[in-house]
Amino acid sequence: MKANSFNTIVIILSMSLSLVLQVNAQTQYTKTPSDHEGPFYPVEQQADEDNDLVNVNGKSESARGDILHVHGVVVDQQGNPQADVTIEIWQTDANGLYRHPRERAQGPRDPFFQYWGKADTDTDGRYSFTTLIPGEYAPRPPHIHFKVWVDGEVVLTSQMYIVADGNQPRVNEQLKLEIERNSNGEHSGFFRIVI
Ligand SMILES: [Fe+2]
Repeated sequence: MKANSFNTIVIILSMSLSLVLQVNAQTQYTKTPSDHEGPFYPVEQQADEDNDLVNVNGKSESARGDILHVHGVVVDQQGNPQADVTIEIWQTDANGLYRHPRERAQGPRDPFFQYWGKADTDTDGRYSFTTLIPGEYAPRPPHIHFKVWVDGEVVLTSQMYIVADGNQPRVNEQLKLEIERNSNGEHSGFFRIVI
């Protein structure tokens, strides 16, 4: 190849690269879509409101079910981490039952499960929960409800839908929580929230 042609190719490649980098720098995330609050938003105070729903303060045992670690990040539409944001989750226990006065389904509740909890994002916008894989209550696919609070105001109410073992809920891609089984038998998944 002649030196001239080679130089031309190098110039074209570097121009393309800088274009790609520019486009990436301006990439905007789409806001996480909202979803139904449902009838079971917690109304009763709990002694323990933290981000570990499997272990409740003062209880001698842990909740029963498959442990799920949800970790994630809250960013704005430019991808900037959002610190001091509160995420609140509520969900069913392993048997697919909520603990709520409106829940009419019969069956024992798990006395060791903390059916809702909250987490604050750190300076990198990160948050985490330890919870259970929610039991299914037909016809809804397994899901975790959540609200996002900024400065005491709710900015988003939505749901995370569990994707596991080939189960693909028919929901917006941004609401899917892909989980995997870890070597210790517990599960984990990452969920980005864009506000
Ligand atoms: Fe629900």
